[in-house]
Amino acid sequence: MTIPSNKKLIVGITGGIAAYKAAELVRLLTRQGVDVQVVMTESACRFITPVTLQALSGKPVFTDLWSDSAGSGMAHIELARDADAILIAPASANFLAKLTHGMADDLLANICLARSCPLLVAPAMNVQMWDNPATQRNIAQLKRDGVIVLGPDSGEQACGDVGMGRMLEPETLLELVIASRQSKLLNGKKVLLTAGPTFEAMDAVRGITNLSSGKMGYALARAALEMGAEVTLVSGPVALNPPHGAKVIHVTSARQMLDGVMAHVKSCDIFIGVAAVADYHVRNPNTQKIKKNAKTLTLELVPNPDILAKVAALPKPPFCIGFAAESENLREFAEQKRQRKNLPLLAANRVQDALGRDDSELILLDDDGAHLLPRAPKLTLARQLLTHAASMLARRKKSSRKKS
Ligand code: C5P
Repeated sequence: MTIPSNKKLIVGITGGIAAYKAAELVRLLTRQGVDVQVVMTESACRFITPVTLQALSGKPVFTDLWSDSAGSGMAHIELARDADAILIAPASANFLAKLTHGMADDLLANICLARSCPLLVAPAMNVQMWDNPATQRNIAQLKRDGVIVLGPDSGEQACGDVGMGRMLEPETLLELVIASRQSKLLNGKKVLLTAGPTFEAMDAVRGITNLSSGKMGYALARAALEMGAEVTLVSGPVALNPPHGAKVIHVTSARQMLDGVMAHVKSCDIFIGVAAVADYHVRNPNTQKIKKNAKTLTLELVPNPDILAKVAALPKPPFCIGFAAESENLREFAEQKRQRKNLPLLAANRVQDALGRDDSELILLDDDGAHLLPRAPKLTLARQLLTHAASMLARRKKSSRKKS
């Protein structure tokens, strides 16, 4: 996963027990190449020391409005000017109240008031404090002011209570921060995807499946969310966490996958068939475990529906994107597949290069020919593929407007 490295993100830490999670968040962000400047409030320093954050961000941490370490003596203005976004994590109830009312009694609050860049807050507090009408009023006002509120989550809290108010986990915050910085090319679009392998039962415990990891499909779901789309992911059995914000429908067999797709396809704008769907299923799988009595065992296999071809053949199909994994004659076989399934866009890769790996390379095939996406992490490829699809969609819209 990569994000532009020339951007400076201010991570503001306020006073709450979740401050310890900010250390992990800063580590994850700096690993992604984000230039992080940590600013802590006085009470944050009671939960975790600036030294820890300095070590993790590789930079001195600012805590004091009156420090003379910033050249001109106007640290809040200089820091706000240099930032392309500010993330407050954790954001305490007190700090949210200060933000709501435009107060500026410490360095972090001053920076927030002096900013011209987006402000993201990750609230973290006890459930009663979160539910308090004052906090709810403040959150509603901050949203009206354009502040992006990330979370909170519900669950067990440090004080022993259970409910809303837990700060989102650092990995989730990282995902959301990165998403907030992507261009929203798919704003308002509904994207439906299939991902992972299917599993076709032979008996009560065994089945036929394949080595698809689901990584490409999950990366595409995440990239689509980042670009502002509403995402529904129909997923075969995989060992991956779905991206935050996706609606996930878990399925096992190809026929269940087809049902999941057909239930959502009507309202979608883009359909992406990434799943490695089994071509056949076992006719009448045994409901019990098959005993190994016989010398040979014959399974009768019958074809599975071709989900992508069915979607592309609908009277008003969404924009359909297919995948082709080939072991030889990649471009030729993939283009034949694109024509056969009647797809505007198909992404082809070599099976040997892609299966189960974190990176791959793709050839995009459309009516204009082939476009090579060189080897890169799957999330990078997913963003490139969706950018290509978004520009094809925009061109289609333009030409259909001209015709009418
Ligand atoms: O025909 P083939 O399986 O090679 O086509 C691959 C493409 O078709 C992928 O996009 C895959 O998700 C989709 N597909 C499908 N249903 C099938 C077989 C493939 O949606 N039964």
